[in-house]
Parts: sequence; C-alpha cells; structure tokens
Amino acid sequence: MRVFVAGASGAIGTRLVPQLIDQGHEVIGTFRSPGHDQRVRALGAEPVALDLLDPAAVRRAVLAARPDAIVHQATALADVRFGRSLDRSFGPTNRLRTEGTDALLAAAREAGVARFVAQSFASYRYAREGGPVKTEDDRLDPDPPAMAAQTNAAMRHLDEAVTAAGGIALRYGGFYGADNDGLVNPVRKRQFPIIGAGGGISSFIHLDDAAAATVLALEHDGAGLYNIVDDEPAPMSEWLPALAAALGAKPPRRVPLWLARLVAGQGMVMMAAGSRGASNSKAKRELGWTLRYPSWRQGFPAAYATRAQRRTPVDRG
Ligand SMILES: NC(=O)c1ccc[n+]([C@@H]2O[C@H](COP(=O)([O-])OP(=O)(O)OC[C@H]3O[C@@H](n4cnc5c(N)ncnc54)[C@H](OP(=O)(O)O)[C@@H]3O)[C@@H](O)[C@H]2O)c1
Repeated sequence: MRVFVAGASGAIGTRLVPQLIDQGHEVIGTFRSPGHDQRVRALGAEPVALDLLDPAAVRRAVLAARPDAIVHQATALADVRFGRSLDRSFGPTNRLRTEGTDALLAAAREAGVARFVAQSFASYRYAREGGPVKTEDDRLDPDPPAMAAQTNAAMRHLDEAVTAAGGIALRYGGFYGADNDGLVNPVRKRQFPIIGAGGGISSFIHLDDAAAATVLALEHDGAGLYNIVDDEPAPMSEWLPALAAALGAKPPRRVPLWLARLVAGQGMVMMAAGSRGASNSKAKRELGWTLRYPSWRQGFPAAYATRAQRRTPVDRG
C-alpha cells in the first residue's frame, strides 16, 4: 500500500515508518519543523512539508500523494510545559485532533482513500467509576475536570469522526521508549512525586509496540476503537518507583493530596488519583497484536538501560 503518514517525524511516526517499510509498504511522511525532512527521508519515506491546520494544503498533499491509506500521528507536544491547565498545554494538539482530523478525512474522502487510522489516547479518559481497568465499551468520563474539558472533547471528536468515516482510532497508552520521553527529566529530577496513596491507574505502551499495532490496524478491515496499551495497567505507587529505578534516579518523593492540590490544582489531582487503566484484549483478539514489552516492568529497564548508565550529578542528587 501507499501510506500517507501525517506526523512521520514525531515520536511515534519515526517508529512507525520503518515498520511500514519492513512490511512492504511505500510511505509518504509529513513533517512540520524545518529540517525534519531529513529525518523522514533517512527513515526511507518521501518527505512532504505540511501544516495540518491548513485544509487547502492538506487537500493538495493528499491528492498529490494518491495514498491507499492515511495515518494521523500529528500532535504538538514537543517542549510543552505542563501546568495547572491541561487545555492550555494541549491547545495546539487539540486543534490537530479536531481541525486536522477533519481536514485529513475530507481529503481522504475526495481522494477515495479507503483506510484511515488516527492517534487517540486511553489514559485519564474513562469514567472514574467501577473497576480499575476499562474496555472500549466502557463509557468515557461524562464530567472531566474543567481544566481538561477541551482536551477530552477533542479526543472524543477524533474518535467519533474517524470511526463514523469507517476508520480506526487507536487509544494509545502513555508512550515511552525514547530518551526524550516526557516523564524522563521530571522523574530524574524528582519533580514528579507520588500523589497521596498513588492509587490512580495508568496504562503505558512502548513506542515499538504502539507502531506494530498501528501497522496491524492499517491492514485491518472495518471501523473501530482500540486501546493500544500494555498488559499491566498499574497504580502510580508501583510504576513511578520502577521508572525512577530504570532511569538510575532516586526514588520519587511523596506529597499528600492537599499539597498536590495546592501546587498542581484540583483538576490534575482528581485525574491522577481517580484515573482508570485500559484493557488491550480487543486489540489482541481482533488485530492479532502481540507485544514485545507486555509490561512496563520489562519495558522501562529496556528503554532506559543506556540512560541509567549515563547518570549525571542531577540524578544522584
Ligand atoms: N500518547 C502519548 O503518551 C503521547 C502522544 C503524543 C506525544 N507524546 C509525547 O510527547 C512528546 C513529543 O512528541 P513528538 O516528539 O512526537 O513531537 P510533536 O511535536 O508532538 O510532533 C508529532 C508530529 O506531529 C507533527 N506536527 C506538529 N505540529 C504539526 C502541524 N501543525 N501540522 C502537521 N504536523 C504537525 C510533528 O512534525 P515536526 O516533527 O516536523 O515538528 C511531528 O511529526 C514525546 O515525549 C512523546 O512521547 C505522548
């Protein structure tokens, strides 16, 4: 197939392109930042500069590429500072998930592209009720904290628009597997503490496993939602110390709920403390997906082995 990957130069795109090429696909990969064409070309794809927020440019690029399939992996999370408002941090990404998705879907329709797969997210979205692990059939949080309302709405828009158009939305877990993963520096510097009892559940996924699931989704017929997460959704009290150890950092600090509320805000604490994990049963069953890193327990040490050996004075505190 000719596959058009929007966001080929990003964290997941750079893992996805080589796997697609290994499977015999031809890839047209988009980038946004000057100089990232080299990155896309080095992966074996044909680079195309594209701003997904420019619908006319999206239309032109898709019609010119004449792809059989489109993958939307564009986000704007590099160098984002996470403060009290998730909606502020995710603002540009939310536009890529709404306007960007709509532009790509319109272009796909016009170009007669039959297959469409897009990046969605699993953690912090399912209703904070009932058991700790949720399937795609479980309901989403009907009342997300105000500071994440637009972010949740953008992901919901993507899920609904993509599946209504016959495509697949992949609700990935928190990505890890690269030196610049978002959690690496805060955990190394002990700026990411365990909040309260650390009972909120997170789901993770190694970037290579996420890319493998994406290739399978592209080759799968029919619309749907899939949680692309590992086998072990886990409370913060378990995964965070393991991540610190894998990075060769000191154990995380602990902060009581009241202090976290003061520093990070009520919304963030509500999400962290009440969050639910996600089940990957459907993706394994329907896509035939197997994981190289079934749990973050193996994945974190594998991802950060070299990093831990390069411990700096910051890590040793
Ligand atoms: N599920 C998750 O946990 C999740 C999801 C996404 C990202 N992240 C994390 O966020 C961090 C940064 O991610 P990242 O390195 O992938 O960078 P990023 O800035 O999120 O970019 C992702 C991709 O989208 C492209 N892009 C950005 N703005 C665009 C626009 N307006 N139009 C079209 N394409 C656009 C980027 O192009 P350029 O590279 O050319 O700028 C890149 O190819 C990483 O630590 C990653 O793990 C986590």
